[in-house]
This record gives sequence, C-alpha cells and structure tokens, in this order.
Amino acid sequence: MIAREQVILSGHNLSKSFSKGQKQGTAVLANINFDIYAGDFVTILGQSGGGKSTLLKILGGFLSPTSGTISFHGQPLKGIDPKIGMVFQENNLYPWLNVEQNIAFGFKIRGEKLRSYIQKVNAAIAQVSLSHARKLYPHQLSGGMKQRVAIARSIAVQPDVLLLDEPFSALDIQLRRRLQDFLLSIWEQTSTTMVLVTHNIEEAILLGQKLIVIGGQPGKILESIDISASCFRHRYHPEFIQLEQYLEAAIEKDITFREAQRTARELKILKASNN
Ligand SMILES: Nc1ncnc2c1ncn2[C@@H]1O[C@H](COP(=O)(O)OP(=O)(O)O)[C@@H](O)[C@H]1O
Ligand SMILES: [Mg+2]
Repeated sequence: MIAREQVILSGHNLSKSFSKGQKQGTAVLANINFDIYAGDFVTILGQSGGGKSTLLKILGGFLSPTSGTISFHGQPLKGIDPKIGMVFQENNLYPWLNVEQNIAFGFKIRGEKLRSYIQKVNAAIAQVSLSHARKLYPHQLSGGMKQRVAIARSIAVQPDVLLLDEPFSALDIQLRRRLQDFLLSIWEQTSTTMVLVTHNIEEAILLGQKLIVIGGQPGKILESIDISASCFRHRYHPEFIQLEQYLEAAIEKDITFREAQRTARELKILKASNN
C-alpha cells in the first residue's frame, strides 16, 4: 500500500499546443502545476473546450505535453503506464466481447494465463454489482451498466491511479447520482487515487476532496480548493451550495471572457497569437 501523504502524480509547468501542419497551433494549456497525493480524490472542473480531456490524456501518458513534465511515483512519465488506468467518456467497450471478456481483456493482451487473473476479474465484476450480467454483450446493457463495465475493466488491473473523463455525463441525473455513490464506494474499498474530470459543478464538489478549476485561454489553474470538512459529500449543506454558486460565477466569467476573446480575434482587434 502506498502511504497517503506521498505525492503520486504531479505536473510541472505543463503546456500543450496542437500543431497545425508546420505551424504551432493555439495553446490549449499553459503553466499547469499540481501535486496529487496517494489515495486522494481530485476533481478537475472546467467549461467544455477548456482543455480538460487534453490534460487528462497528458496525465495518462496518452499525449505528450509541448513542454513540462509529469512525474509518477517521482519518476518522469514517458508514456502509458499499466499502473495508471483511464475511463473515457464513451465507454469504449469491445462490442464482440461479453462483460467478463471485456473486463479480462487487459490481462489477456498481456499474455497472462486465465488462472492468474480470473479472481481479479471476478472481484471487479462483484465490485460493480454486475455478477448477474457477466455473459451479456455491450448492446444488451444500459448506459449505466456499460460505464460500470468500463470502470470494472480499469480497476481489475489494480491501478494506483484511475483517471476518469466525464464518465457520467451521458447519463440522466438519477443514474448519475447512483454511479457517483458507487464510484465513491469503490474508492473507499480500494483506496485508488482518483482524478475525475467534469464540467458539472455539483459533481466536482460532491466527489472531490480537492477540486482544481481550469479556465482561460490557454487553460490554466484558476483555483485549487480543499473541500471543507463541513460540506464534504453533503449536497444540501449551505457551504456546499455557496461553493456551487461561487464556482458557477467563476465558470460563467470564464465562458464570457473566452467568447469575447474569440470575437475580438475574429474582428482582428486581438492577434490570433499563441496565447
Ligand atoms: N488532437 C487535437 N488536435 C487539435 N486540437 C485539439 C485536439 N484535441 C483537442 N483539441 C482542442 O483543444 C481544446 C481543448 O479540448 P479538450 O481538451 O477536449 O477540452 P474539454 O475536454 O475541456 O472539453 C479544444 O479547442 C479542442 O478543439
Ligand atoms: Mg473533454
């Protein structure tokens, strides 16, 4: 078990621009710095198009930053790592594999023998309460069940860190709330470090112990908030609602600012520069 006070994943001066042919494109992220401690539940909040998925892909080693570094267990992260799992917004299940085969897939491609991983697969299926559905195929599952399979597939390999990119945003509110509770119970059982990206303010406050807000153009960290003990996991606590209102205003300001900036660029009042 990794000690909780240990930094497990950190970003140092991260920035990212997507190149346009030979030219450097607009910067999506700039000067991002953070430390994530082992066992934390961190949420990253920001408006759509603000660079959240880009940041998460960089954290998972799927994308390399234009500058800056990621450290994982104190070592530079050079690419994808089996100890960092990722759940995407679209669940990316293999349609030709049933639930248990989807969950076992990671072990199978690594050439592991069934007897060495079957217990881990069964434990993951039980953790997401899908034992009754293990032989069903993705087209036979509801949206919420598919996301549970995607989460089970990631936790089966027992990652140290699980990155989740808006995993519940396609679900209706009731289902979303059930899956949020269910994710919290997995976090409590496994003490996996969770980093969840969302544009939903309530979700960011409810799930996070620490909440990072990104915004601006290029995206920077606007706020880093420790959720206070009094409103922690209490959706209807007055401090929860106050924080929600504060963040709504911050995101609204960010949206207005970026719209104004876009218009000014179109009118050539502002240069279409890297920043
Ligand atoms: N592969 C890519 N190539 C070029 N631009 C990209 C690529 N991925 C994302 N972007 C751009 O980066 C910005 C941030 O995107 P993204 O990280 O998906 O934001 P979010 O997840 O917050 O909605 C957007 O303007 C998007 O168009
Ligand atoms: Mg996204």
